[in-house]
Amino acid sequence: MERRKLGRSGLEVPVVGMGTWQTFDVSGRGAEQDRREVVDAALGAGANFFDSSPMYGEAERVLGAALQDRRDQALVATKVWTASASEGRAQVERALRFFGGRVDLYQVHNLLAWREQLTLLEEMREAGKVGAIGATHYSPSAFEELGNVMRTGRIAAIQVPYSPLEREIEREILPLAADLGLGVVIMRPFAEGALMRRVPSTLDLAPLYEFGVTTWAQALLKWVLSDQRCHVAIPATSSPQRMEENAAAGNPPWFGPEERALVARLAGAEDGVKRKT
Ligand SMILES: NC(=O)c1ccc[n+]([C@@H]2O[C@H](COP(=O)([O-])OP(=O)(O)OC[C@H]3O[C@@H](n4cnc5c(N)ncnc54)[C@H](OP(=O)(O)O)[C@@H]3O)[C@@H](O)[C@H]2O)c1
Repeated sequence: MERRKLGRSGLEVPVVGMGTWQTFDVSGRGAEQDRREVVDAALGAGANFFDSSPMYGEAERVLGAALQDRRDQALVATKVWTASASEGRAQVERALRFFGGRVDLYQVHNLLAWREQLTLLEEMREAGKVGAIGATHYSPSAFEELGNVMRTGRIAAIQVPYSPLEREIEREILPLAADLGLGVVIMRPFAEGALMRRVPSTLDLAPLYEFGVTTWAQALLKWVLSDQRCHVAIPATSSPQRMEENAAAGNPPWFGPEERALVARLAGAEDGVKRKT
């Protein structure tokens, strides 16, 4: 698994990690044991960067339990997601309990009350409970504001969507992140699973075999990671086998422009640059 510096956050991350939205919002012994097996697969494959949020129901708790006896093997990213200062503090205290007293990357979710929440996270960083601070947003309508937050110098990393169907970050966010030396975490590399509904044939994927790609999921992850400004992609899955499959995309060689254009075409972005506006 290739590892990259997450900008100037001080963290070094595997290029493939794991998200927990929906997939880890479970409860009950059987379901939680199943998720532990997904975490086993991730750790076994070197994909030891995990992203969560209090917005994802039980996910932080379930992830924390799966990491309990091996927290030191993982990098944990989570988020504060509230406009309320007191609820923000309560969320951070809860997450610190789940994750053994430390969160490696603490992000302001959807830029909610970002000025206030950054102050809280800075306090936690001073106290040694938080490694680095970031901010996330899923919507291009918020990218102007995200750019403003990036320019404050108060965050070391961002989390944004990127896939052949969601390329808006190419316009301003990725160049700005590179200029400022910020880490870039990529959410929804499979467009929340939408890109998995129509899977190209083995024949279609044949030109990508020499890049170590044997599945459509791997083609999509390599499409993201071949842009070196992206440091870690965090596909979510409830399956240990798929976790291994996704992690296997985290090795060079990386795609050039031709292979990226092919993947974009196969994804249904006909000219390879389809963008939502
Ligand atoms: N969506 C957002 O707006 C958002 C916002 C902020 C942060 N995030 C973070 O980003 C993470 C990733 O985004 P996401 O979960 O929205 O979407 P995603 O990772 O693009 O897609 C997840 C879907 O892909 C399927 N999948 C995973 N690996 C697969 C494989 N190898 N083959 C076929 N299908 C596969 C999963 O189903 P199975 O479980 O059946 O494998 C799941 O339904 C989130 O979990 C969260 O941590 C997301």
